[in-house]
Amino acid sequence: MTFADINETLVADRGITRDDFLRAVTDGLSKGRKELPCRFFYDEAGSILFEEITRLDEYYPTRTETAILTDCAGEISAGTPAGSVIVEFGSGSSTKTEILIEAIPQLAAYVAIDVSETALDEARARLAKKYPQLKVETLVADFAAPVDLPDVCCNRPLLGFFPGSTIGNLTREDATSLLRLFTDGLGPRSRLIIGVDLRKDPAILIPAYDDAAGVTAAFNLNLLVRINRELGGNFDLRAFAHRAIWNADAGRIEMHLESLKRQTATIGGSEFRFERGETIHTENSHKYEIEDFRAMAQAAGWSLRKTWRDPQGLFSVHELVAAES
Ligand code: AVJ
Repeated sequence: MTFADINETLVADRGITRDDFLRAVTDGLSKGRKELPCRFFYDEAGSILFEEITRLDEYYPTRTETAILTDCAGEISAGTPAGSVIVEFGSGSSTKTEILIEAIPQLAAYVAIDVSETALDEARARLAKKYPQLKVETLVADFAAPVDLPDVCCNRPLLGFFPGSTIGNLTREDATSLLRLFTDGLGPRSRLIIGVDLRKDPAILIPAYDDAAGVTAAFNLNLLVRINRELGGNFDLRAFAHRAIWNADAGRIEMHLESLKRQTATIGGSEFRFERGETIHTENSHKYEIEDFRAMAQAAGWSLRKTWRDPQGLFSVHELVAAES
């Protein structure tokens, strides 16, 4: 291996190279308003912290979406022709997918797409054991880029699956582009089951992103831990604090890391200066009104066939249908 090869070695098996990471961090911290892309949250420690977030009392999305899916799975199944294929974008551990797999015995196959080969291997092994009849195909790929679907999808009804309100991480513009990519990838008359977090009282939203136990704070700060470890940064972790802000105009929760003093951090020979109170914007989590989401999906070639919500109206799951062509 040459030095360049070593430098391009995958970091923590998330399809991210050290060079990608360094470039993104350098670019983000060089902006007038500093930012870091949220996709770098999920190294090993970050993935464990996120799992912990999903079990917090304050973090309603995961358990609420799971309950909705459990309730509506029969209805989704009733509209699913025999020989259909589920295509999941960013499948991770495929936990929620099992709800659909259980409810749709007429399924021909499940195609899981994720950047983590480890996650895909684990999911495939577990599903093969639990559902020996089901054909499982995995694809190591970034769902935000166009993918060639495997042959098993040819001439079969496709049911896209994009749970978790992952769509919320994107701006409305980027979310529309991603939905358009799904329309084009899945094709005319395909369906998409998508989880979308709903706009609600900030008194519920803020604690969900700033929990009492400090797990979300640790998740956010882990980004600096990761920069220190993987890029040789020297961030002083006690000099930054987690902030969760409700941006009403943009309809989103923003996570930031706020510099608690005037300071300089060095990463790979480059210096980055921080004023006291200056923040690094690390994540957006957009919240939608249903009509708002319907209009966005429509602009991307989808019509909304059905929406399911929990009794409290916290979260939504939608069935979208792609236009004829
Ligand atoms: C995985 C993007 C759905 O926005 O709620 C949780 C990530 N960030 N707590 C979200 C997250 C802080 C989460 N998504």
